[in-house]
Amino acid sequence: MKFFVDTADVDAIRELNDLGFVDGVTTNPSLIAKSGRDILEVTKEICEMVEGPVSAEVVATDYAQMIEEGRKLAEIAPNIAVKVPLTLDGLRACKTLSGEGKMVNVTLCFSANQALLAAKAGATFISPFIGRLDDINLDGLELIADIRQIYDNYGFETQILAASIRSANHMSDCAKIGADVATAPPAVIKAMANHVLTDKGLAAFLADAEKAGIKIV
Ligand code: G3P
Repeated sequence: MKFFVDTADVDAIRELNDLGFVDGVTTNPSLIAKSGRDILEVTKEICEMVEGPVSAEVVATDYAQMIEEGRKLAEIAPNIAVKVPLTLDGLRACKTLSGEGKMVNVTLCFSANQALLAAKAGATFISPFIGRLDDINLDGLELIADIRQIYDNYGFETQILAASIRSANHMSDCAKIGADVATAPPAVIKAMANHVLTDKGLAAFLADAEKAGIKIV
């Protein structure tokens, strides 16, 4: 499973990139607003730092303007994935932009039917939001499993990009189901390394090493 980092914070991306955990980046208008930076400028900086796909989202809602914005975003760098919302206009824009050879990430997916339409529109990525489904007492992981089954039934190449991930457990759950990609905030990716027994075991090893005077260099 590929790891994308869901942020427009360049320092956080750099830190995870140095650890080797960044296969790509996803942003959205809320994350760009949080960064306080110009969308074109910050997205360019991210694209220069990361080799994999960097999703940048349009803010238009009608087809013609989505195309205009999508083309402008795609000019930033070859690794841009234009992010469009899962609306009929967004699906039409997906088809056009995919036909031009651009990567397209269809976002705000909350049902298997929506994911089926995105695949038929030639999406490179479909982004089901699992945390937001869990927030309203629906089952986000069940949606990932349903999309996996549908895509596998017909050999769709659209990659399932599990989004709105809220916990480290979501990451392993998505991997078990077979999501192609999971995008998560930096803190969630770093939290995957935590285990209380690791901390306890390390403390014991270090105490024994000190008692025995073990020195390596
Ligand atoms: O980038 C889209 C998605 O990951 C947003 O997550 O936590 O705002 O539901 P969240």
